[in-house]
Amino acid sequence: MVRKQVVLVTGANGEIGHGLIERISQEGDKDIIALDLVPLDEELARRCQEVFVGSILDTQLTERIVSRYEITEIYHLAALLSTRAEFAPETAHQVNVDGTMGLMQLALEQSSWSGQPVKFLFPSSIAVYGLPDLETKARAGKVKEYEWIAPTTMYGCNKLYCEALGRYFSRYYRQLAAEKDQRTVDFRSIRFPGLISAVTVPSGGTSDFAPEMLHAAAKGESYACFVREDTAIPFMAMPDAVDGLLRLSAAPQQDLKHSVYNITAFSLTAGEFAAKVREHFPSAQIRFEPDLKRQAIVDSWPVDTDDSAAREDWGFAPVYDVDSAFAEYLVPAIRRRYA
Ligand code: SER
Repeated sequence: MVRKQVVLVTGANGEIGHGLIERISQEGDKDIIALDLVPLDEELARRCQEVFVGSILDTQLTERIVSRYEITEIYHLAALLSTRAEFAPETAHQVNVDGTMGLMQLALEQSSWSGQPVKFLFPSSIAVYGLPDLETKARAGKVKEYEWIAPTTMYGCNKLYCEALGRYFSRYYRQLAAEKDQRTVDFRSIRFPGLISAVTVPSGGTSDFAPEMLHAAAKGESYACFVREDTAIPFMAMPDAVDGLLRLSAAPQQDLKHSVYNITAFSLTAGEFAAKVREHFPSAQIRFEPDLKRQAIVDSWPVDTDDSAAREDWGFAPVYDVDSAFAEYLVPAIRRRYA
């Protein structure tokens, strides 16, 4: 019996999953199997060879998957985001770290069947950064991958550690063994800024104020923003995030000097974001009612990130700046969605 070769997407029903599955299926050369805690939206499920509903921590389920399919590439998107993780840090650690460790072992095991490295694409986040105060944040400006990595959230700690784990699995696994292990994981990670999708509203993140503000305006609902007007972090439109993952996956290994790359598109304050929303939805009702604890998390994230390594090594360049993201992607799609 020959198992079918597939790409595995975990957290498939989430924000990135929606855009990613659509793109991979449009390209048409790979079969997708999806894993999520909840059933996939119907349209998304139709694009997948098979959908498995359950937890990434359920080893019986993951074994059932590999008994049926040979996995050549993993997009491991499942995670508890930064706000939600603070309400259940131990659970977040299990999902975000133990779950990722389990999938890396699965990737390693899968590579022994084909003799080829299994690609492991991992979304990391600006949450791995931790700036101690606003003055330092302003002074730091665009941060490089190795600067200010002192996360203040469980989610940030989990992402930073899993980046290291990925580097370990792809370069140093069982480094003291007499013979080099032939099984290999080809780990590649992107540190994303806040992502804004026209299709889905995020749940449980701390950069959610921006997408929430926009979706509320489109629905004609008033919105109380949980951070101050002057709060600045970097953002990106979802199609660029998906494109980043696919481009990094397609890059020749020898071009990649690092296993983890920042990418970003535009930085702006919550007040500037509100002004953009009002440009397109003039009757939007947005007020600022900072939640001091969530504010502290966003204040620890950088104003901007330096993504020159991604641009140099694998040619990353976002299509959308803030104006075109609103005018050409977000607003038309969101209007259609709530029409
Ligand atoms: N957008 C995510 C969050 O807010 C960060 O990766 O948790």
